[in-house]
Amino acid sequence: MNKQWLKEKIAAEFPGNDFEVLIPPAHKLGDYFINLAFALAKKDRRAPAEIGGEIAAKLSALNDFKKVFERIEFASPGFVNFYLSKNFLVKSLKDIYGAGSSFGSSNMGAGQKIIIDYSQPNIAKRMHVGHFRSTIIGDALANIFEFLGYGVIRWNYLGDWGTQFGKLIAAYKMWGDKKAVEEKPIETLMALYVRFHDEMKSNPELEDKGRREFKKLEEGDAENRGLWEWFKNESLEEFDKIYKLLGVRFDTFEGESFFEKQMKPLVEELTEKNIARESQGSQIILLEKYGLPPALIQKSDGASLYITRDIASLRYRIAKYNPAKIIYVVGNEQSLHFQQLFAIADILGIKDTELHHVKFGLVLGGEGKKLATREGRVILLEEVVKKVVDLAAEVVKEKNPELSEQERKKIAEAVGIGALKYNDLHENRHSDIIFDWDRMLNISGDSGPYLQYTYARLNNIKRKAGWFAGWMIRKSDGKELETEQDFLLIRKILNFPDIVSESAQMLLPNILALYLYELANLANTYYNSTPILKDKNKNRRKARLMLIGVAANVLRSGLNLLGIQSPNRI
Ligand code: ARG
Repeated sequence: MNKQWLKEKIAAEFPGNDFEVLIPPAHKLGDYFINLAFALAKKDRRAPAEIGGEIAAKLSALNDFKKVFERIEFASPGFVNFYLSKNFLVKSLKDIYGAGSSFGSSNMGAGQKIIIDYSQPNIAKRMHVGHFRSTIIGDALANIFEFLGYGVIRWNYLGDWGTQFGKLIAAYKMWGDKKAVEEKPIETLMALYVRFHDEMKSNPELEDKGRREFKKLEEGDAENRGLWEWFKNESLEEFDKIYKLLGVRFDTFEGESFFEKQMKPLVEELTEKNIARESQGSQIILLEKYGLPPALIQKSDGASLYITRDIASLRYRIAKYNPAKIIYVVGNEQSLHFQQLFAIADILGIKDTELHHVKFGLVLGGEGKKLATREGRVILLEEVVKKVVDLAAEVVKEKNPELSEQERKKIAEAVGIGALKYNDLHENRHSDIIFDWDRMLNISGDSGPYLQYTYARLNNIKRKAGWFAGWMIRKSDGKELETEQDFLLIRKILNFPDIVSESAQMLLPNILALYLYELANLANTYYNSTPILKDKNKNRRKARLMLIGVAANVLRSGLNLLGIQSPNRI
């Protein structure tokens, strides 16, 4: 049972109408409602109230619906509400229990590929919190699409090409120290780059020097190639540590440099086809038709640009994978870049692949200020991760003083990183997010640790029930479930598949995060108000154990999709 199923059934009875199946905010209004009467009313020039009753009557008579709904009713001014029957809810619970961790997954994406371009740090530079957001959001979307059966290609499009590498090579040749790079690669390389820029102010000659080194790099000069590759490998090793800690993985790291060889032929082709044109020695693509400024694709010195490489990578991806969608997870500040890229795709006749820029806001510090360390630098990712794990260790110690140091460390990592991820994912990604450590780690607030704690609590009931709990549950048919609380929780659980596909459709992981928070709230209320292990009625005890087990499973699956671990204890 899900919205799609319901929609198809209704559409078959009332073909050719535009309407939606929605989930009401409160269960008093039913489990689903539709706005079909408004569409029909417009067409027939009648009052929606009149038509609503007719729709309810017609749908109530359907055999398929009789098995599922207890009643289907008109509600003013023109909605039709659907109430699932208790029998159906209980039967579903049993099925969901049987489905285990596959509940909510589907094959709606079978045979379709989706490329997700995320994380994308720049080599020889530190990842900043923008890359962090991209990594977290991209990973969640990749998990969600995979769960829905799509062939997902996790693409880390590295920033590993551009004139800045000429400057870096020049700086290394003048002041570099091999040992220092080996010991602290990114820090050392960044310092070299900064020094180069500082000295450029008093010595403008350097700019040219950098350009010459880049030209040599482009032409394949062995020494410069070697240096660039070395910088890249050292950077990747550092990035890899962060990826391991965050538990994210990629299918490919093909980045900007991968497309370097295609720059000249691409610009030539675009010029020949009159898509690009000359302007003061540079090549540009006019995008007036799209209300956008022209895109510069080749500088007057012949150098290619960020967007040129993106055009090449876009074509390559389509030729190689023929994906249904390409999703670029990149901050708001690159909106113009992607508008231009997508306009160029339109000019190139790319029609069968949907292109999305999944944008997100900034990361702010405590009082809504741009996040900065004391020295005014943007906070560094490693420091953030380390800090949150340390803070989480305190929370874990307080809850579980009896655990060994080693166990606590593992849990603290899961909790700290879960807190960071959830803090990012529970907000609509368009908003800026705030790094407020207390809120992020507040075990009784809207936080990652709260969800993990709820899971651990539910899991604990099962543990207390003993080794035969699973066996008992399998014997239960759930018929004894009867209270309002029992059914509130079942209904919420039943919405999980709809939520997952809505998150995917809207490209908004926060829809899933909000759902998990609400589910956790309901499960906690249930746990606090309903006797489970202490239930005197033996059969109902089994049924309730099943319900709690299913709620725990859904929480775990959902957290897993968000890239958050669910330790058995906190
Ligand atoms: N490396 C870029 C940056 O740090 C982001 C790359 C985004 N992906 C793309 N296909 N342009 O700003």
